[in-house]
Amino acid sequence: MIQAKMTFPSDFLWGTATSSHQVEGNNTNNDWWQFEQVEGNILEGGKSGLACDWWQHAENDLNLAAEMGTNAHRLSLEWSRIEPQPSIFDKDALDRYREILQAMITRGIEPMVCLHHFSNPLWLVEKGDFNSDLVVDYFGRYTNKVVSKLGDLVGKWLTINEPAVYVFQRYLEGKFPPPSENGFTGARKAMINLLRCHAIAFHTIKEKYPEAQVSVAKQLRIFEARPDGNKLDSWWANWLTNIFNHTWLKSMATGHLQHPFGRGAIKGLAASFDFIGVNYYTRNTVRFPPTTGFFDEEWGPDALVSDGNYGEVYPYGLYRVIRQALPYNKPLYITENGLPDREDRLRPAFILDHLRQIWQALSFCYPVMGYYHWSLVDNFEWERGWTQRFGLIEMNEETQERTWRPSGRLYGEICHSYSIDSDMTARFAPQLLDIMFPGQAPQGKQDQEMA
Ligand code: BGC
Repeated sequence: MIQAKMTFPSDFLWGTATSSHQVEGNNTNNDWWQFEQVEGNILEGGKSGLACDWWQHAENDLNLAAEMGTNAHRLSLEWSRIEPQPSIFDKDALDRYREILQAMITRGIEPMVCLHHFSNPLWLVEKGDFNSDLVVDYFGRYTNKVVSKLGDLVGKWLTINEPAVYVFQRYLEGKFPPPSENGFTGARKAMINLLRCHAIAFHTIKEKYPEAQVSVAKQLRIFEARPDGNKLDSWWANWLTNIFNHTWLKSMATGHLQHPFGRGAIKGLAASFDFIGVNYYTRNTVRFPPTTGFFDEEWGPDALVSDGNYGEVYPYGLYRVIRQALPYNKPLYITENGLPDREDRLRPAFILDHLRQIWQALSFCYPVMGYYHWSLVDNFEWERGWTQRFGLIEMNEETQERTWRPSGRLYGEICHSYSIDSDMTARFAPQLLDIMFPGQAPQGKQDQEMA
């Protein structure tokens, strides 16, 4: 019997999130596909291949999302399908996206659409993509086409997914398909052009659909000095927080570049967002100087770490990043949150505890409007290929067979009831009962004696 319950607002959005290259399959015309063909680039030689076969059968997984009780889904459009050659737009691809969006809407699932999620058309790469100023005009035209063909079906847009992660992984760490110019100079140019692309897309959407809500999906991370760290470690943690979490947001808010990318103004950038899409995954424990790159894959001594050393499970961090986003004075959507967990050993508790943080934020009237779990089904995890499984539903990429994980069932109960409660916690993550609902665990000896 339910003894205690945390209830969410009746207009809360319960979603899942995916991206085009990770689920569609056969995206042969982009830089990731090309990158996957070279041995050594993807862990265990993984290839996206048919991925989750969404290009042909997205509807099947949308049925599962509807059965789960979700009322929202975040997906991205594949630029290389829509514009396979410069200025040549593919009507069939746009029609297929219309069909997928319609399929969502008829199932009661509100779409949030992202225009750029890590992959680029090959022709754009040849022209230098984000290293080249040309990209801004092309991105504006691509957005214009998409909005005129699909805009009537979409109320929420994301222009760019995780710009800081993208620049970091591609230009500085070299883990993503290579740009024409890497290192700090390449990264700086890319950052500026990504901001310019965002600005042009924001205004293109708003011109046609003033009511549309537009932003980016911004990954926010917790950086903390190692427990026995010194002042330099703390200084580094603050520097990373500022550059990784806030540089982009401050630029979008003020319209000006921020340290260390420059100071200049970017046309149309000021106040070019209606909400903040917050992607939250983990906390990093940092030291200065880092052993490699900017920060090591290092977690606290008692950290619970997800598969493949992906990251610490740190639910309170979600509450903390929500607070970090408050000064921008915009509604917040948690546009990604999840973990790789093939055996579903941590995910049920992960979901309950992260949602508890949102509930706590809501109880302080912080404007969190929705939650999109990453991800609905296992999908192609970039440079880590098929080695990491983020799905609420397990997928066998060889057979395309789907199997519900317990966490998928749990998320289903949550979405259907707009709440997390002691009963579901007792069934799916009993170890959390005392933490989430103190006093609700089976009665102890003392309680029995008192009764
Ligand atoms: C990205 C996703 C990715 C997820 C899990 C996010 O940074 O936007 O594409 O699959 O993290 O690693």
